Amino acid sequence: MATIAVQDELLQNRDFDVATKATIESIIANLIGALPKPEKLTSAERRGIIARYSAVLEGNFIYWMTATLLAVHSDGAKPIILDNLHEEVRDAHPHMMRKFAIAAHAVPTDRDALAVHEELTNMRLFLGRLSGVQSLAAMAFFEGFIQRFMPFLAQLAAAEGSTEMEYTDVHGVCDIAHTEGLFQALAIENSVSPLNDGKDVLEGVYLLRAVIERIVSGRPEAA
Ligand SMILES: [Fe+2]
Repeated sequence: MATIAVQDELLQNRDFDVATKATIESIIANLIGALPKPEKLTSAERRGIIARYSAVLEGNFIYWMTATLLAVHSDGAKPIILDNLHEEVRDAHPHMMRKFAIAAHAVPTDRDALAVHEELTNMRLFLGRLSGVQSLAAMAFFEGFIQRFMPFLAQLAAAEGSTEMEYTDVHGVCDIAHTEGLFQALAIENSVSPLNDGKDVLEGVYLLRAVIERIVSGRPEAA
C-alpha cells in the first residue's frame, strides 16, 4: 500500500508539473501574440515600453529572484536559483539593462516608474509572502516571457536608433536554459514543499502578467 501511495503521489506531482508548465507557456504565447507591431507605434510609445520595462527589470529582477531563493524549502531547488543569481551578478545584468535603455533614449522617468507602480507593488507584496512554489512559478513564467520578448524589445530599440543590443542578445539565449531550470526547480519544490490546498499556483503569474501588460500598454492617465 505504501508503495502504491508513493507512486500515486509521484503521478499527481507529474500531472501538476506538466499542467503548470503548459498553462504558463500558453499565457506567454498569448502575451507575445498580443504585442503591437513596432512599426505601428509612435516613437513616444516605443520609448515608453522600453522605459517601463527597464523601470521594472533593472532594479527588481535580482531582488525577485532573491525573494524566491528565500522562499524555497527544498535543497534541490536552491542551487538552480543560485546559479541564475550568480550569472545576473557576475555579468552585471542591471548594467546591461541600463546601457540598453540609455542607447535607446529610454531611461525611465518618474512618470514611467509611476505608470507601473501599482502592478509592481502587488508583485512585491506577493513575493514578500515567501511562497516557494508560487514564487518559482512566477519566475519561470518571467524568464520564459523575457526570452520570447527580446526580439520585440530589440526592434523597438532599433527603431529608436539604437545599436546597443547586448541585453536583448544575451537574454534571448541564456533565458532558455534559465526557464527550463526554474521549471525543474518548481517540480522539485512542489515534491518537497507543495502548495497548500486552495492556493493557486498561478497567483504570482497573474500578477506578473498584469505588470507586463502595463509595461506594454502604459497607463493612460500617465501618458
Ligand atoms: Fe538577466
